[in-house]
Amino acid sequence: MKVYTLGDLREQIKSFPLFELISTPTPLYSLEKLSNELGGPKILIKRDDLTGLAFGGNKSRKLEFILGDALKKGADTVLTWGALQSNWCLQTAAAARKAGLRPVLLLFKTYDVPAIYTGNVFLEYLLEARMEIRETEEKGKSVNQDKAFELLEELAARERAKGYHPYLVSVGGSACGGHLEQPLGALGYFQAMLEIYEQTAKAADLPDYIVIASGSGGTQAGLIAGVKALGLKTRVIGICVSDKKEEFFPIVKQVTMELLTTLGLDLQIDDDDIILFDDYLGAGYGQITAETAGVIRNLFKKEALVLDPVYTAKAMIGLLDLVERHYFSSKDRLLFVHTGGTPALFALQDYIMSCLPGG
Ligand SMILES: Cc1ncc(COP(=O)(O)O)c(C=O)c1O
Repeated sequence: MKVYTLGDLREQIKSFPLFELISTPTPLYSLEKLSNELGGPKILIKRDDLTGLAFGGNKSRKLEFILGDALKKGADTVLTWGALQSNWCLQTAAAARKAGLRPVLLLFKTYDVPAIYTGNVFLEYLLEARMEIRETEEKGKSVNQDKAFELLEELAARERAKGYHPYLVSVGGSACGGHLEQPLGALGYFQAMLEIYEQTAKAADLPDYIVIASGSGGTQAGLIAGVKALGLKTRVIGICVSDKKEEFFPIVKQVTMELLTTLGLDLQIDDDDIILFDDYLGAGYGQITAETAGVIRNLFKKEALVLDPVYTAKAMIGLLDLVERHYFSSKDRLLFVHTGGTPALFALQDYIMSCLPGG
């Protein structure tokens, strides 16, 4: 299978319009106390919660390319959907404002959290994003993409009637649909993989595994495509945060294949390139458990690292459990990507505290 150089791949990416939103590289370092305590694999962290846009997170990398596309297509309004406390929606609204576009958000009450101006919703209020809140059919699961696009089209029609030019994009900026004709969100994580390679290869510290929270699939797809293109042995592990593996696997696979096509890379994706664990879903998307609350407290006390309750806490629970189950060898290097989402902590504060001793 063909292996590409870093230079080739960087050149390839340059052909996609990008609206600059973040400052890179984000820090990558070792979690010493955690690694020592585990006495097993070395745990490194990539701080993509420090991308710098509206409290940071993985979405800002995706949005650089997505907004580049929206601007190229002459949009003046960006429409998307997500859960009520969606980190994607906040990042999209902030990025849109920075690019001079109007944000319109369709927010679903996918889990039990009050529809008040707190956490991400408070920040969206400050941004004067237009917000429309709806119930969902099934709590704790992703909203059906076709259904969400139908509703988004209704909002788009209203915007068009007012003379605006909306750009529609699906939750998480991963799957193509609406005006997103190529997996430009995943492209952001393809680029992130090149950055990880640059940060780790020189120190002969390439990770054996990368562990991430996987929700709409684009982050995982981009990293897998990057690993393949560079010909690395690194394995990318996605910890499912909303859907079961069977439902989610085809999405990650499709986005990865579409990305390789978009980049014109002559590479194959096999089923075993896509590693997913759905054992840590708990009661479903956004549901807080004693384990979630515990890992947030534990990592904050140990490493001064703030995890979010919906994504990174679950991914860390997965990483720690896999270490305990000896999934990795004690010599392995694991890279945990902190994908952000921390403003939701403040919206879910009561739930988190009620799960902790004395709460
Ligand atoms: C904080 C955070 N981490 C991880 C993810 C998952 O990323 P992806 O949707 O690319 O799978 C999301 C998606 O919403 C997120 O907001």
